[in-house]
Amino acid sequence: MIGSRTTGELRSHRWYGVQDLRSFGHRSRTKQMGYAEEDYQGKPVIGIINTWSDINPCHAHFRQRAEEVKRGVWQAGGFPVEIPAMSLAEPFQKPSTMLYRNFLAMESEELLRSYPVDGAVLMGGCDKTTPALLMGAISMDIPAIFVPAGPMLRGNWRGKVLGSGSDVWKYWDEKRAGTIGENEWREIEDGIARSFGHCMTMGTASTMTAAAEALGMTLPGASSIPAADSNHSRMASLSGRRIVEMVFEDLRPSKILDERAYDDAVTTVMALSGSTNALIHLIALAGRSGIDLNLKRFDEVSRRVPVLANIRPTGEYLMEDFYYAGGLRGLLSRLEDMLHLDRLTVFGATIEESIKGAEVYEKEVIRSLDDPLHEEGGLAVLYGNLAPDGCVIKHSAADPRLLKHIGPAVVFDDYNDLGRRIDDPDLEVDENSVLVLRNAGPLGAPGMPEWGMLPIPKKLLKRGVRDMVRISDARMSGTSYGTCVLHVAPESFVGGPLALVENGDPIELDVQGRRLELQVNQRELQRRRAAWKPPEPYYERGYGLMYANHITQANEGCDFDFLAQRGSVPEPEIH
Ligand code: FES
Repeated sequence: MIGSRTTGELRSHRWYGVQDLRSFGHRSRTKQMGYAEEDYQGKPVIGIINTWSDINPCHAHFRQRAEEVKRGVWQAGGFPVEIPAMSLAEPFQKPSTMLYRNFLAMESEELLRSYPVDGAVLMGGCDKTTPALLMGAISMDIPAIFVPAGPMLRGNWRGKVLGSGSDVWKYWDEKRAGTIGENEWREIEDGIARSFGHCMTMGTASTMTAAAEALGMTLPGASSIPAADSNHSRMASLSGRRIVEMVFEDLRPSKILDERAYDDAVTTVMALSGSTNALIHLIALAGRSGIDLNLKRFDEVSRRVPVLANIRPTGEYLMEDFYYAGGLRGLLSRLEDMLHLDRLTVFGATIEESIKGAEVYEKEVIRSLDDPLHEEGGLAVLYGNLAPDGCVIKHSAADPRLLKHIGPAVVFDDYNDLGRRIDDPDLEVDENSVLVLRNAGPLGAPGMPEWGMLPIPKKLLKRGVRDMVRISDARMSGTSYGTCVLHVAPESFVGGPLALVENGDPIELDVQGRRLELQVNQRELQRRRAAWKPPEPYYERGYGLMYANHITQANEGCDFDFLAQRGSVPEPEIH
């Protein structure tokens, strides 16, 4: 016995260990799959929730990795069962994977609940899969360990290093400006995604897998290992071995994820200059843990934690460089004084023990506290009459000249309107304008897609303009950059103030003062509100209708209201 629990106390015992009609069925059907009694009897059942799919390039190695996890589970005396779950593939799923994050969270929770699973290995990495799997596991609260997909290798084009997303946006603008042609664009297409694994910039995937590690839900160092590195396979096997021990120790998410864990995750995200999506996901995860994490906390942490990771889009390097430089353990060792070192992790050790001996090998990639990339963390939370419930900007990836700015609004009613008019030569816009996109929030788009990095109008690109102030209730890819104010809450679709903005209205952005103001007087705004009509709902039936009826706003984590709460769900009756 490794921990304090006996096999008779495991959930799976009720399926396999008793002598009745139903357990006869469970045993005989397990034998039907070719397993002998000694393969499973009296062993913890480990559910491997695998988000592999033929249409998810970030998880293309997960079939192999699942086998490696199983190897570890067998070695440690467990019985592994691989259970496929919805694969949220960021590049392909429309209107947005965000529409389905809660779907995967529900699916994960209910798979773990309805099958004889004693412990879970969660296999994810592509953006929403990480928070979704963790949300489900937190709510189910059985021992669980996260196996991050790992970043893909660096991109390459004509000797230049290419980063996922960030360099797509950059070279797309160059193509629109006419500085590169069709041939170059094709070559970039060939070179930017060279291996399996998730985006290798500090996008949402790298941010959330690092956050999972900082929370204590992965093995130490797991999130930085490139997907194609053999260390990744060994990490998968070790995770399989470890989860069996965790089952006997009854080491559940609720014993790991306290307020200090979420604080440390926020600190880590700030030092990485992580994706703005982390705010939404961490608020949702904390909600599942019964912890009130709010936007103000992010801003407080951001003001005192410097950016140390020199990774695109804020910095210069990529995740492969970060790994060679010492990875997340190296970075956390530099943040020691800001972390709660005595917290427990899935490793069964404290954070202090997890980062013991960690070093930084490339000081340019992982900066020191004395020589940070930015003095403040990467994200700022703003409030004002345009965002009463808050909004966010990744100011570390914005043009510093625009962080205090007043300009006239150029309003786009929705994404189609934006597509139709943004490159119109007659569009009344200049570099001081503030581009506004509405109806792109959780309900408006629907699904809050990553449309927040609005394109710069072509006529301005040709004049050399590469950044402008942009405001929306959308999200933005973590690989994106620019002076983009995002997640404006409440969103315009439900009557948030963004719905009332008109062309030419002066808008003031003051990042230092954390303000976003529409400079229109109260009486005029009241007149506009009285004339405002709510848009027609999108869905009459199906998942979309359930989503629309229960989704919360960005500042609340965009969870479903009925899932966000803590509380027990009865174990299924086994008969
Ligand atoms: Fe999967 Fe970026 S597309 S992580």
